[in-house]
Amino acid sequence: MTDRYAVIGNPIGHSKSPLIHRAFAQQTGQELEYTAIEAPEGGFAAVVDAFRHKGARGLNITAPFKLDAFCYATKLLDRARLAGATNAMSFVGDVVEADNFDGVGLLRDIEYNQGIPLPGKRVLLLGSGGAARGALLPLLEARPAELVIINRTFEKARSLAEAFGSYGSVIASGYDRLKDAERYDVVINATSASLRGEALPVSANFFSNASLAYELAYGKGLTPFLRLARESGVARVCDGVGMLVEQAAEAFAWWRGVRPATAAVIAKLTVPLT
Ligand code: ATR
Repeated sequence: MTDRYAVIGNPIGHSKSPLIHRAFAQQTGQELEYTAIEAPEGGFAAVVDAFRHKGARGLNITAPFKLDAFCYATKLLDRARLAGATNAMSFVGDVVEADNFDGVGLLRDIEYNQGIPLPGKRVLLLGSGGAARGALLPLLEARPAELVIINRTFEKARSLAEAFGSYGSVIASGYDRLKDAERYDVVINATSASLRGEALPVSANFFSNASLAYELAYGKGLTPFLRLARESGVARVCDGVGMLVEQAAEAFAWWRGVRPATAAVIAKLTVPLT
């Protein structure tokens, strides 16, 4: 029987995961089927049960099911446990292993594709929701000199910094509290503001010394965050398309034991930031 994989979400029509994984399978000569499944809200477990009965080997999980998947899993790997969400599951007999590759995908994109190694760098992370939480462990493991989380609701940044304090040096701040924004080398937007085209309460001095402004969202063009970064003269501005492909490559390697090359797939999916 062909090994089956899928991405599950609602809606799911927009998902690039089938295209990405089929390209990886072709490139590495792996025989597998990768489809997209739309599950009704509240129906995650029943749909996944049925997929497993048909011989499924793994799943990617996207909105709004990352928490459902977290609860469905029987074995949470560290990154999923700390992120409080999972974006990939592997079915091994009765065991449902859950990992989260979003953060490591971000890190690979920054360090390898954008060419900015994080050790010794000063990193500013905007936002304290699910996306920021998923990015924190890999970011801290990269040993930046400093990692500051800022959030509109300061309390959330504070509790995130506390939760991850044992993994590295991380401190919380607020948009109105940060006195020295210009000190940061890399500024990452992990808020959901860009999904709605909203501007963040940041000024150009956030980017005075930045060599990279990174937008986690992708396919939104030049968001208000990226526009401000570009106007401020940041050398590199990018959206999260590389992160998307890199997290897929991590999942593929986990499932199939072979890591695909990502550059051609990223190039295919990249939309110019205008
Ligand atoms: P996601 O899963 O995409 O991370 P989330 O968990 O709802 O979504 O978190 C959204 C994040 O974006 C939060 O940090 C939110 O700030 P608050 O905690 O203060 O709500 C942040 N956010 C959303 N819109 C924003 C805006 N217009 N300005 C600043 N921060 C914003």
